[in-house]
Amino acid sequence: MKIKFIYNLILSAVMIFCVAGYSLAEQKTQGKRNDTLIIYYSYTGNSKTIAEYAKKKLTADILELEPKIPFSTDYDTVVKEWQNNDIKKDVEIKPVKINLKKYKKIVLITCVWWYGISPVMKKFLKEYDLSDKDVIVASANAGGLGHSFEDYKTLLSKSNIKGELDLVFGSQENDRNKLKTSYKEIDDWLNKLTAKPLNN
Ligand SMILES: Cc1cc2nc3c(=O)[nH]c(=O)nc-3n(C[C@H](O)[C@H](O)[C@H](O)COP(=O)(O)O)c2cc1C
Repeated sequence: MKIKFIYNLILSAVMIFCVAGYSLAEQKTQGKRNDTLIIYYSYTGNSKTIAEYAKKKLTADILELEPKIPFSTDYDTVVKEWQNNDIKKDVEIKPVKINLKKYKKIVLITCVWWYGISPVMKKFLKEYDLSDKDVIVASANAGGLGHSFEDYKTLLSKSNIKGELDLVFGSQENDRNKLKTSYKEIDDWLNKLTAKPLNN
């Protein structure tokens, strides 16, 4: 009888311990749930480089946008197709599978195509809702930022744009992927989203 009592006591203690431990672990993962998402489109890899840098700095999630039908891998062909209007300026994009609702802070990075944000980013902002979210935006370009920030403002009229970054890379064939903007400027821009100094 006494042994059975002690056995039940130990069993109850173990069960309480397990339940308490589980809920503590659950609270921890919930507390750590990421609220920042980086969304980018990159044709030659520049926006991608900065998106990955931002992912590390902010310990954020990341989403790459893609056109439904890939553009030619030849740079000059894409430029020509765009000039000749062969590429439909209103391109279709692959559906986004991430639940955007769970993110409060968004980082948007895209290349500039013909003095505006890329058609892929444009399409994304037309199709998906980022209302009420804090957003920082960047445009990777070769010195011709054009109306990119106006594009972002028009398409994000219901979001809080907290920072804009003119992300300049080289303009010649041999330095197209050479970053001209300093990492200090990039960090200052990222800080506008976190509102607290970033770790080095
Ligand atoms: C079709 C096309 C149009 C472009 N139009 C512009 C432009 O208007 N202004 C500019 O500065 N750069 C322009 N560029 C250059 C890219 O914006 C620049 O190289 C940028 O760094 C590329 O970023 P990504 O590597 O993320 O694609 C254009 C490039 C392509 C392919």
